[in-house]
Amino acid sequence: MRLLVTGGAGFIGANFVHATVRERPDVEVTVIDALTYAGSRESLAPVADRIRLVAGDITDAELVDRLVAEADAVVHFAAETHVDNALADPAPFVHSNVVGTFTVLEAVRRHGVRLHHVSTDEVYGDLPLDSPQRFTERTPYNPSSPYSATKAGADMLVRAWVRSYGVRATISNCSNNYGPYQHVEKFIPRQITNVLTGRRPKLYGSGANVRDWIHVDDHNRAVWRILTDGRIGRTYLIGADGERSNLSVLRTILRLMGRDPDDFDHVADRAGHDLRYAIDPSALRDELGWRPCHTDFEAGLRATIEWYRENESWWRPLKDAVEARYQERGQ
Ligand SMILES: NC(=O)c1ccc[n+]([C@@H]2O[C@H](COP(=O)([O-])OP(=O)(O)OC[C@H]3O[C@@H](n4cnc5c(N)ncnc54)[C@H](O)[C@@H]3O)[C@@H](O)[C@H]2O)c1
Repeated sequence: MRLLVTGGAGFIGANFVHATVRERPDVEVTVIDALTYAGSRESLAPVADRIRLVAGDITDAELVDRLVAEADAVVHFAAETHVDNALADPAPFVHSNVVGTFTVLEAVRRHGVRLHHVSTDEVYGDLPLDSPQRFTERTPYNPSSPYSATKAGADMLVRAWVRSYGVRATISNCSNNYGPYQHVEKFIPRQITNVLTGRRPKLYGSGANVRDWIHVDDHNRAVWRILTDGRIGRTYLIGADGERSNLSVLRTILRLMGRDPDDFDHVADRAGHDLRYAIDPSALRDELGWRPCHTDFEAGLRATIEWYRENESWWRPLKDAVEARYQERGQ
């Protein structure tokens, strides 16, 4: 199989490419990635001689058309992804997430190529704290931020291209991922690398907001299950029953790193901060038999902390600029 992976130099995409090269030697991987601040060649360095990396923008219709024409399937990860950046400047989110997805869709439509579109549970908005309610495939879209609104727009384009043009596509909406190669602007790596660089971790507001954590390898295994056996036109929710408040995640990180669990600062909350995300993954489990392997969150977190300890050369060059930006925002 010739597989085109968009955004393969970012966090989830790079882990997807690593796992694919490791576990599926019959798959030829081509990555297209604009190598924005969020993507790096270093993330693909361990597999560099086993894949083809094309530096390019997914809104470049000619380039995307050529790469899609050479592929049997496309897994579409490329997106702008950080909510705080979207609040500061939404324009790149419309460009990459909406126009980018449109460009990919037009290419797969022309060439009849199978597409899996990777999306987020944030398209559903948020849930009340302390309620039994969880997101399902039938939950109405209700995005809160320019990030989730542009991802929702992209999902709608995919649905319409399936219905109107018969494009063979599936969609997955996953909860919050953690693991190696995640940019230090994101919550878990930010806290780990704050401790590693002698800074105090920072918590938005009271930290009551709940996220439903899943290990990136479990997400990517689900993507492969859907790509292989998912029903065309179907949306699958991916989650691993990992609900935790930001406060409890931060305290666990501090404890695992040998610090006092209260050794952090509260900072200004994010505007419009979603309260709680929670996924009901029954359809994926029942229909496709997928189960998460990383069911011990603390063990996954410990391994992630270890990865950041051992790979300082990967994240160190990014760290000061990220913290300077947070400081400007009072966070
Ligand atoms: N991180 C999460 O917790 C999470 C959860 C659910 C879904 N998702 C989705 O998974 C996908 C990947 O997320 P991530 O966390 O790996 O993001 P990331 O920001 O780490 O990586 C995104 C990658 O896309 C590339 N990119 C951005 N715009 C591009 C463009 N116009 N053309 C080509 N490449 C471009 C970047 O260079 C980067 O390598 C996104 O679609 C995101 O919405 C993420």
